[in-house]
Amino acid sequence: MKYKRILLKLSGESLMGNKQFGIDNERLNIYASQIKEIHALGIEVAIVIGGGNIFRGVQAEEGGMDRTHGDYMGMLATMINSMALQAALESAGIHTRLQSAIEMREIAEPYVRRKAMRHLEKGRVVIFGAGTGNPFFTTDSAASLRAIEINADVILKGTRVDGIYTADPEKDPTATKYDVISFDDAYNQGLKVMDMTAFTLCKENNLPIIVFDMDTPGNLIRLLEGHAVGTIVRN
Ligand code: GTP
Repeated sequence: MKYKRILLKLSGESLMGNKQFGIDNERLNIYASQIKEIHALGIEVAIVIGGGNIFRGVQAEEGGMDRTHGDYMGMLATMINSMALQAALESAGIHTRLQSAIEMREIAEPYVRRKAMRHLEKGRVVIFGAGTGNPFFTTDSAASLRAIEINADVILKGTRVDGIYTADPEKDPTATKYDVISFDDAYNQGLKVMDMTAFTLCKENNLPIIVFDMDTPGNLIRLLEGHAVGTIVRN
Protein backbone atom coordinates (compact mmCIF):
# COMPACT_ATOMS: atom_id res chain seq x y z
CA MET A 1 0.00 0.00 0.00
CA LYS A 2 1.47 3.31 -1.06
CA TYR A 3 -0.05 5.31 1.77
CA LYS A 4 0.07 3.95 5.27
CA ARG A 5 -1.37 6.93 7.10
CA ILE A 6 -3.75 9.36 5.46
CA LEU A 7 -5.62 12.47 6.39
CA LEU A 8 -9.03 12.59 4.76
CA LYS A 9 -10.56 16.04 4.44
CA LEU A 10 -14.32 15.95 3.98
CA SER A 11 -16.46 18.90 3.04
CA GLY A 12 -19.26 19.96 5.35
CA GLU A 13 -21.44 20.98 2.38
CA SER A 14 -21.23 17.49 0.93
CA LEU A 15 -22.78 16.12 4.12
CA MET A 16 -26.01 17.93 3.18
CA GLY A 17 -26.59 15.53 0.31
CA ASN A 18 -29.64 16.90 -1.46
CA LYS A 19 -30.80 18.85 1.54
CA GLN A 20 -30.47 22.62 1.85
CA PHE A 21 -29.00 22.52 5.32
CA GLY A 22 -27.66 20.17 7.96
CA ILE A 23 -26.77 16.52 7.70
CA ASP A 24 -28.17 13.94 5.33
CA ASN A 25 -28.02 10.59 7.10
CA GLU A 26 -27.78 8.66 3.89
CA ARG A 27 -24.72 10.62 2.77
CA LEU A 28 -23.21 10.26 6.22
CA ASN A 29 -23.58 6.49 6.10
CA ILE A 30 -22.16 6.33 2.58
CA TYR A 31 -19.10 8.18 3.81
CA ALA A 32 -18.82 5.88 6.83
CA SER A 33 -18.94 2.76 4.69
CA GLN A 34 -16.30 4.13 2.33
CA ILE A 35 -14.05 4.91 5.26
CA LYS A 36 -14.68 1.43 6.62
CA GLU A 37 -13.47 -0.06 3.34
CA ILE A 38 -10.11 1.67 3.49
CA HIS A 39 -9.76 1.10 7.21
CA ALA A 40 -10.13 -2.62 6.49
CA LEU A 41 -7.05 -2.40 4.26
CA GLY A 42 -5.05 -1.53 7.37
CA ILE A 43 -4.60 2.12 6.46
CA GLU A 44 -4.41 4.55 9.36
CA VAL A 45 -7.13 7.13 8.90
CA ALA A 46 -7.41 10.62 10.36
CA ILE A 47 -10.25 12.89 9.33
CA VAL A 48 -10.99 16.61 9.29
CA ILE A 49 -14.45 17.71 8.29
CA GLY A 50 -15.69 21.20 7.45
CA GLY A 51 -18.76 22.88 8.88
CA GLY A 52 -20.22 24.81 5.95
CA ASN A 53 -23.46 22.81 5.94
CA ILE A 54 -24.24 24.33 9.32
CA PHE A 55 -22.41 27.62 9.59
CA ARG A 56 -19.90 29.60 7.56
CA GLY A 57 -17.84 32.25 9.33
CA VAL A 58 -17.19 34.19 6.13
CA GLN A 59 -20.88 34.63 5.37
CA ALA A 60 -21.56 35.66 8.92
CA GLU A 61 -19.07 38.46 8.40
CA GLU A 62 -20.95 39.59 5.31
CA GLY A 63 -24.01 39.82 7.51
CA GLY A 64 -22.19 42.20 9.83
CA MET A 65 -20.88 39.76 12.41
CA ASP A 66 -17.33 40.05 13.61
CA ARG A 67 -15.19 37.60 11.61
CA THR A 68 -13.56 36.13 14.68
CA HIS A 69 -16.93 35.45 16.27
CA GLY A 70 -18.22 33.83 13.09
CA ASP A 71 -15.14 31.66 12.77
CA TYR A 72 -15.56 30.31 16.28
CA MET A 73 -19.16 29.45 15.45
CA GLY A 74 -17.86 27.68 12.36
CA MET A 75 -15.49 25.66 14.53
CA LEU A 76 -18.44 24.53 16.63
CA ALA A 77 -20.20 23.53 13.41
CA THR A 78 -17.29 21.24 12.57
CA MET A 79 -17.73 19.60 15.96
CA ILE A 80 -21.35 18.78 15.15
CA ASN A 81 -20.29 17.17 11.87
CA SER A 82 -17.41 15.38 13.56
CA MET A 83 -19.75 13.93 16.18
CA ALA A 84 -22.19 12.82 13.50
CA LEU A 85 -19.40 11.14 11.56
CA GLN A 86 -18.06 9.54 14.72
CA ALA A 87 -21.47 8.07 15.47
CA ALA A 88 -21.85 6.79 11.90
CA LEU A 89 -18.41 5.17 11.97
CA GLU A 90 -19.02 3.59 15.34
CA SER A 91 -22.31 2.14 14.21
CA ALA A 92 -20.42 0.68 11.24
CA GLY A 93 -18.23 -1.08 13.82
CA ILE A 94 -15.14 1.12 13.66
CA HIS A 95 -13.36 2.36 16.74
CA THR A 96 -12.94 6.10 16.69
CA ARG A 97 -11.60 8.91 18.80
CA LEU A 98 -12.67 12.51 18.43
CA GLN A 99 -10.23 15.23 19.43
CA SER A 100 -11.17 18.86 19.61
CA ALA A 101 -8.90 21.85 19.10
CA ILE A 102 -11.14 23.75 21.52
CA GLU A 103 -11.47 22.10 24.87
CA MET A 104 -14.92 20.58 25.44
CA ARG A 105 -14.02 17.60 27.54
CA GLU A 106 -17.55 16.32 28.07
CA ILE A 107 -17.82 15.75 24.35
CA ALA A 108 -14.34 15.03 23.05
CA GLU A 109 -10.77 14.52 24.02
CA PRO A 110 -8.63 17.61 23.72
CA TYR A 111 -6.25 17.59 20.79
CA VAL A 112 -3.04 15.92 21.91
CA ARG A 113 -0.77 15.01 19.05
CA ARG A 114 0.95 12.08 20.67
CA LYS A 115 -2.34 10.60 21.78
CA ALA A 116 -3.73 10.97 18.28
CA MET A 117 -0.72 9.10 16.90
CA ARG A 118 -1.21 6.32 19.45
CA HIS A 119 -4.88 6.01 18.50
CA LEU A 120 -3.91 5.70 14.85
CA GLU A 121 -1.32 3.05 15.65
CA LYS A 122 -4.02 1.11 17.47
CA GLY A 123 -6.22 1.21 14.40
CA ARG A 124 -8.68 3.82 15.60
CA VAL A 125 -9.99 6.39 13.19
CA VAL A 126 -9.16 9.80 14.64
CA ILE A 127 -11.38 12.77 13.86
CA PHE A 128 -10.00 16.22 14.48
CA GLY A 129 -12.74 18.73 15.28
CA ALA A 130 -12.90 22.49 15.79
CA GLY A 131 -10.45 23.30 13.01
CA THR A 132 -7.14 24.61 14.27
CA GLY A 133 -8.91 26.24 17.20
CA ASN A 134 -8.06 29.63 15.73
CA PRO A 135 -10.10 32.11 13.69
CA PHE A 136 -8.90 33.04 10.19
CA PHE A 137 -7.90 29.46 9.45
CA THR A 138 -10.01 27.23 7.26
CA THR A 139 -10.64 23.56 7.81
CA ASP A 140 -8.34 22.95 4.84
CA SER A 141 -5.62 24.61 6.87
CA ALA A 142 -6.56 22.48 9.87
CA ALA A 143 -6.33 19.38 7.67
CA SER A 144 -2.89 20.41 6.39
CA LEU A 145 -1.60 21.24 9.85
CA ARG A 146 -2.85 18.03 11.45
CA ALA A 147 -1.62 15.94 8.53
CA ILE A 148 1.87 17.36 8.93
CA GLU A 149 1.78 17.00 12.70
CA ILE A 150 0.84 13.33 12.60
CA ASN A 151 3.24 12.59 9.72
CA ALA A 152 0.49 11.58 7.33
CA ASP A 153 1.69 10.43 3.92
CA VAL A 154 -0.92 12.39 2.02
CA ILE A 155 -4.01 14.56 2.32
CA LEU A 156 -7.03 13.27 0.45
CA LYS A 157 -9.32 16.18 -0.22
CA GLY A 158 -12.77 14.83 -0.92
CA THR A 159 -14.83 17.14 -3.12
CA ARG A 160 -17.70 16.98 -5.56
CA VAL A 161 -15.40 17.24 -8.57
CA ASP A 162 -13.08 14.50 -9.71
CA GLY A 163 -9.86 16.50 -9.68
CA ILE A 164 -8.17 19.70 -10.79
CA TYR A 165 -8.87 21.00 -14.28
CA THR A 166 -7.04 23.41 -16.57
CA ALA A 167 -10.08 25.69 -16.24
CA ASP A 168 -13.50 25.52 -14.60
CA PRO A 169 -15.11 22.54 -16.40
CA GLU A 170 -18.58 23.98 -15.79
CA LYS A 171 -17.67 27.16 -17.69
CA ASP A 172 -15.13 25.91 -20.21
CA PRO A 173 -15.99 22.70 -22.10
CA THR A 174 -12.40 22.36 -23.35
CA ALA A 175 -11.04 22.08 -19.79
CA THR A 176 -9.06 18.92 -19.15
CA LYS A 177 -8.16 17.22 -15.90
CA TYR A 178 -4.66 16.91 -14.54
CA ASP A 179 -3.57 13.57 -13.15
CA VAL A 180 -0.49 15.14 -11.59
CA ILE A 181 0.50 18.76 -11.12
CA SER A 182 3.27 20.40 -9.12
CA PHE A 183 2.55 22.91 -6.39
CA ASP A 184 4.43 25.53 -8.41
CA ASP A 185 2.45 24.90 -11.60
CA ALA A 186 -0.85 24.90 -9.73
CA TYR A 187 0.12 28.21 -8.14
CA ASN A 188 1.42 29.80 -11.35
CA GLN A 189 -1.72 28.81 -13.23
CA GLY A 190 -3.93 30.18 -10.49
CA LEU A 191 -5.62 26.81 -9.95
CA LYS A 192 -7.54 26.64 -6.74
CA VAL A 193 -6.57 23.56 -4.76
CA MET A 194 -6.92 24.83 -1.20
CA ASP A 195 -6.64 28.29 0.30
CA MET A 196 -3.10 29.66 0.23
CA THR A 197 -2.38 29.02 3.89
CA ALA A 198 -3.22 25.33 3.53
CA PHE A 199 -1.53 25.08 0.13
CA THR A 200 1.70 26.64 1.37
CA LEU A 201 1.81 24.45 4.47
CA CYS A 202 1.61 21.36 2.27
CA LYS A 203 4.16 22.62 -0.23
CA GLU A 204 6.70 23.64 2.37
CA ASN A 205 6.35 20.37 4.24
CA ASN A 206 6.38 18.25 1.11
CA LEU A 207 2.95 16.79 1.79
CA PRO A 208 1.09 15.73 -1.36
CA ILE A 209 -2.59 16.57 -1.78
CA ILE A 210 -4.96 14.40 -3.79
CA VAL A 211 -8.18 16.11 -4.85
CA PHE A 212 -10.84 13.55 -5.72
CA ASP A 213 -14.57 13.00 -5.95
CA MET A 214 -15.69 11.59 -2.60
CA ASP A 215 -19.33 11.44 -3.63
CA THR A 216 -18.80 8.54 -6.03
CA PRO A 217 -18.81 5.44 -3.84
CA GLY A 218 -15.80 3.22 -4.42
CA ASN A 219 -13.52 6.09 -5.40
CA LEU A 220 -11.77 6.28 -2.06
CA ILE A 221 -10.75 2.64 -1.98
CA ARG A 222 -9.80 2.67 -5.66
CA LEU A 223 -7.54 5.63 -5.01
CA LEU A 224 -5.83 3.87 -2.12
CA GLU A 225 -5.47 0.69 -4.12
CA GLY A 226 -3.34 2.70 -6.53
CA HIS A 227 -5.79 3.42 -9.35
CA ALA A 228 -5.69 6.78 -11.11
CA VAL A 229 -8.37 8.68 -9.22
CA GLY A 230 -8.39 12.46 -8.85
CA THR A 231 -5.43 14.81 -9.23
CA ILE A 232 -2.29 14.65 -7.15
CA VAL A 233 -0.51 17.91 -6.29
CA ARG A 234 3.07 17.45 -5.17
CA ASN A 235 6.52 19.02 -5.29
P1 GTP B 1 -5.28 4.04 25.08
O1 GTP B 1 -5.17 4.08 26.54
O2 GTP B 1 -4.08 4.58 24.39
O3 GTP B 1 -5.65 2.70 24.51
O4 GTP B 1 -6.42 5.07 24.61
P2 GTP B 1 -7.92 5.19 25.06
O5 GTP B 1 -8.46 6.32 24.25
O6 GTP B 1 -8.68 3.94 24.97
O7 GTP B 1 -7.79 5.56 26.56
P3 GTP B 1 -8.44 6.64 27.45
O8 GTP B 1 -8.50 6.04 28.79
O9 GTP B 1 -7.70 7.92 27.25
O10 GTP B 1 -9.89 6.87 26.86
C1 GTP B 1 -10.97 6.01 27.10
C2 GTP B 1 -12.19 6.63 26.49
O11 GTP B 1 -12.43 7.91 27.05
C3 GTP B 1 -12.08 6.85 24.98
O12 GTP B 1 -13.35 6.64 24.38
C4 GTP B 1 -11.72 8.32 24.85
O13 GTP B 1 -12.17 8.90 23.65
C5 GTP B 1 -12.44 8.91 26.06
N1 GTP B 1 -11.74 10.09 26.54
C6 GTP B 1 -10.46 10.20 26.93
N2 GTP B 1 -10.17 11.44 27.32
C7 GTP B 1 -11.32 12.16 27.19
C8 GTP B 1 -11.70 13.53 27.41
O14 GTP B 1 -10.90 14.37 27.82
N3 GTP B 1 -12.98 13.87 27.13
C9 GTP B 1 -13.88 12.96 26.67
N4 GTP B 1 -15.12 13.39 26.40
N5 GTP B 1 -13.57 11.70 26.44
C10 GTP B 1 -12.31 11.28 26.70
